[in-house]
Amino acid sequence: MRMERVCILGGSGFVGRHLANRLARQDICSRVPTRRRERSRHMLIIPRLELIETDIHDQSALTGLLEGVDAVINLVGILNESGRDGSGFRRAHVELTESAIAACRAAGVRRYLHMSALGADAENGPSFYQKTKGESELLARAAHGPDLAVTIFRPSVIFGPEDSFFNRFAGLLRIAPGVFPLPTPHARFAPVYVGDVTEAYARCLTDRSTYGQTYDLCGPKEYTLKELVDYTARMARLRRIVLPAPDWLSRLQARLLGLWPTKPYSMDNYLSATVDNVSKDNGLPKLGVHPTAVETIVPAYLGSQHARGRYNRFRQIAGR
Ligand SMILES: NC(=O)c1ccc[n+]([C@@H]2O[C@H](COP(=O)([O-])OP(=O)(O)OC[C@H]3O[C@@H](n4cnc5c(N)ncnc54)[C@H](OP(=O)(O)O)[C@@H]3O)[C@@H](O)[C@H]2O)c1
Repeated sequence: MRMERVCILGGSGFVGRHLANRLARQDICSRVPTRRRERSRHMLIIPRLELIETDIHDQSALTGLLEGVDAVINLVGILNESGRDGSGFRRAHVELTESAIAACRAAGVRRYLHMSALGADAENGPSFYQKTKGESELLARAAHGPDLAVTIFRPSVIFGPEDSFFNRFAGLLRIAPGVFPLPTPHARFAPVYVGDVTEAYARCLTDRSTYGQTYDLCGPKEYTLKELVDYTARMARLRRIVLPAPDWLSRLQARLLGLWPTKPYSMDNYLSATVDNVSKDNGLPKLGVHPTAVETIVPAYLGSQHARGRYNRFRQIAGR
C-alpha cells in the first residue's frame, strides 16, 4: 500500500505531535485538522505537516480533508466533557468515529488506525470515557473489511515530554500545601512511552499482518497510582506527603473538582480509575518495539522543569 500522506484526526494533541514528527522521518506527510489553528501554531516546525483549521464534525468538510490521503489515524479523545450527561464523550468518541469511517469510504481511503484505550468497554465500562471509547472500538472493528483495513490500539497511560499525566501530577503537587490527598491510590497502570506508541503506529501503517488486529500498548512495568505520584514528587524534587485518600474522600474530591470550569479531576475520571489500566497481552513486543521504562525518560523532563523553575526564580529576583 502506498503511504505518502496520512490525515491525523486529533493530531494537534500530545500523541499527534510526536506521531507527525515520527512519520516525517519516513517522509510521510501529516495532514492535521484542528478547531483552532492559532493554538496549534507551534506544530508548524514539524516537517511535512499540513495544519488545517476546520470542523471535522462537518461530514463534507471531513470527506474533503481526506482527498489524496492514504490513511486516516484517529486520535481524537477527551478525558472530560463540558456537560455531565456523556453527550460530549459520545460526540468526540462515537459520532466522530462513525463520521471518520464514512469519510474514509467516501474518499476511497483504505487504511484506518484507531486510538482506543485500555479499559475501553462498551458494556461494562464504569465511566462515560470507557463506555464511549468501547463503543468507538466496536465501530472500528466492525468497519474492517476488504475496502478498509483497520488496526486498533489500546494504550495504558502514555508518558513523554508534555504528557498530561506526570506533568499534571507535578503541577498539582507543586500547589499542594505539604500534604497531597491522592484519590484511587491503588489503581494500577503500565505507563507506555509516547515514542513507543508512535513507533507502533508507524510500523503498522503498511504492515499487512496488522490489518484487523487490536494491540494493547503497555510499558515494561506496572505501578500503583500512589507509586507513580510518589515518584513524580521525587523527580520534581517536591517534598510532599502523598496521602492515600479513602474511597469516600476520592469521590468527594471528584465531585468538588468536577465543579471547577477546567475540571482538573471529575467523577468520570474517578470511575475510570476504578478499573486497572494494565494488560497481560502487551502488543509492543509483537510489533518489534521494546517497551521503554518510565525511569529512563521521565527524569529528563520533570528534572528539567525543576532546573527551569530555579532559573525562572533567579530571573524574577534579578528583575529580568
Ligand atoms: N494521553 C494518554 O495518556 C492516553 C492514554 C490512553 C489513550 N489515549 C488516547 O489517545 C488519543 C490522543 O491522546 P492525547 O493525549 O494526544 O490527547 P490530547 O492531547 O488531548 O489531543 C486530542 C486532540 O483531539 C482533538 N479533539 C478533542 N476533542 C475534539 C472534538 N470534540 N472534536 C474534534 N477534535 C477534538 C483536539 O484537537 P483541536 O483542539 O486542535 O481541535 C486535541 O488536540 C486520545 O484518543 C486518547 O483518548 C491517550
